[in-house]
Amino acid sequence: MGLALYGEGGFYQDGGKAGRRGDFITSPEVGPLFAAVIARYLDDCWNEMGCPSTFDVVEVGAGPGTLARGIFDARPKCISALKYVAVEISKAQRALHPSFVESMADFPDRTIQGVVLSNELLDNLPFKLFVYDGVWKEAFVALGDGGKFVEVLRHVDEVPEVLPKTAPLGSRAPIQTAATQWLLKVSQKMSNGKVLVFDYCSESTSQIAVTPWREWLRTYKEHERGVHYLLDPGSQDITTQVMVDQLMQVVPSLTNAKQSEWLNSYGIGELVSEGMEYWEAHKSSPDIAAMKMRSRSNEAQALTSHDGLGAFSVLELEL
Ligand SMILES: C[S@@+](CC[C@H](N)C(=O)[O-])C[C@H]1O[C@@H](n2cnc3c(N)ncnc32)[C@H](O)[C@@H]1O
Repeated sequence: MGLALYGEGGFYQDGGKAGRRGDFITSPEVGPLFAAVIARYLDDCWNEMGCPSTFDVVEVGAGPGTLARGIFDARPKCISALKYVAVEISKAQRALHPSFVESMADFPDRTIQGVVLSNELLDNLPFKLFVYDGVWKEAFVALGDGGKFVEVLRHVDEVPEVLPKTAPLGSRAPIQTAATQWLLKVSQKMSNGKVLVFDYCSESTSQIAVTPWREWLRTYKEHERGVHYLLDPGSQDITTQVMVDQLMQVVPSLTNAKQSEWLNSYGIGELVSEGMEYWEAHKSSPDIAAMKMRSRSNEAQALTSHDGLGAFSVLELEL
């Protein structure tokens, strides 16, 4: 998965990305409203910290930098203190970052005081795949006849505790070592502040083990579901539902809210009303600003819909 997404010729190294002209639409790519709500959250955190003169915001898996652009456009009160680092593993996407952010390939090697953000990062970090074959075994990729990739199952010395004792034969489950290590590493690098993670999550690995695997191990290409994850590596995105129980094993104080509720609590409704008022006052000769304000209500619907982005999880950790 790591090579297929981030290796030479991998999906993200080779131009795969979020956005209307990309392969999938994420919350920041719906429009600027998501970033405007995050800007309010950042102001809250900055105020809680006593308005320090330097306020770190590290966005990991920043893609082409759309969220960063939106946050600066929303002109938060903390803007003069804001030191925004956009961490993105893909060189092609780093090249698209705006000049006002510090663009990096890896998480900064220093203590962070402020906020670490990520949207749809953890689902994209390579995970181990376990398969129930009378006992739980780990799946590996090998080269089969005719040069095709095949899966081979191997015995493991220690079965991860989160897996159920037994399951129907052929059951599958992700073990997200990279995601849990990421969260642990980030929390250790922070001296004061918050980690805020948006993603599609499931609460329990036992539950996912009895869910048809194609529902949680998904591939995407050009806004459509892709083919089997071993086919045509590099041509499609590969993702998993993020397992909250596994993250909570390493960071028990993580809180979990639905994206719709979280956006409401940080004032998405007020931003929509402000947008409608602005539109009403300017609709006789609308400019770009008026059009953007009018689109807030459609964006809010997409960001909070219960069968779409609104059902995503917002995981938060205070340090
Ligand atoms: C699904 S995209 C989301 C992009 C953006 N956050 C958004 O919401 O539109 C995931 C991004 O994470 C990046 N990524 C994956 N692993 C990473 C890592 N270890 N460090 C930094 N970026 C990473 C990928 O290259 C990709 O751009």
